[in-house]
Amino acid sequence: MKKKVVSFLASGRGSNFTAVAEKIRAGDIDATLGILVSDREEARALETARQYGMGAHFVDPRAYGGKGEFEKAIIALMKKAKTDLIVAAGYMRILSPVFVKAFANRIINIHPALLPSFPGVDGQRQAFEYGVKISGCTTHFIDEGTDTGPIILQAPVAVEKDDTAESLAARILKEEHRILPESVRLFCQGSLKVKGRKVIII
Ligand code: GRF
Repeated sequence: MKKKVVSFLASGRGSNFTAVAEKIRAGDIDATLGILVSDREEARALETARQYGMGAHFVDPRAYGGKGEFEKAIIALMKKAKTDLIVAAGYMRILSPVFVKAFANRIINIHPALLPSFPGVDGQRQAFEYGVKISGCTTHFIDEGTDTGPIILQAPVAVEKDDTAESLAARILKEEHRILPESVRLFCQGSLKVKGRKVIII
């Protein structure tokens, strides 16, 4: 089987991107690194991608006449790089239905809460302030909704007595760095099948 090309969308520090890229570089995930696209010029993820020798593209949302044009530019870059899988690793924009359709069931997102609870931004803080005893993280395929797509893997993280939103987020992040690469590995070896809302791991 031809190796899958894995590309990334990231808006910030890119620790999840690094966690996946390191596994690809080490050969633990049977895939090739594609490109990284960021909507923020100052994203540390861009710098890391350059260090890996990857194509690192800042696509400025303000340079286009709207979301459609902006996304078209990203889709073109992704296709030019022959991307099989896109990993949204801390990408802070909602993808339009056009984008989702262009890569149907080929975009994986990491969310820092146990979906369907606490979707949207700051999932760790939302869960902490709600007072849950167990939170965690979720990987899922992106669909047209916000954090609503078919779930691939989840990891629970218990809330400790003296936790703050920050200390909880730090423990959740460790689990993100485990389940995101694992989800990518499963995809790249052809083990993920989407059936309606469910992801079957074969
Ligand atoms: C992570 O907590 C991720 O779950 C969320 O945004 C954060 C990104 O962190 N979507 P990083 O850029 O991967 O370090």
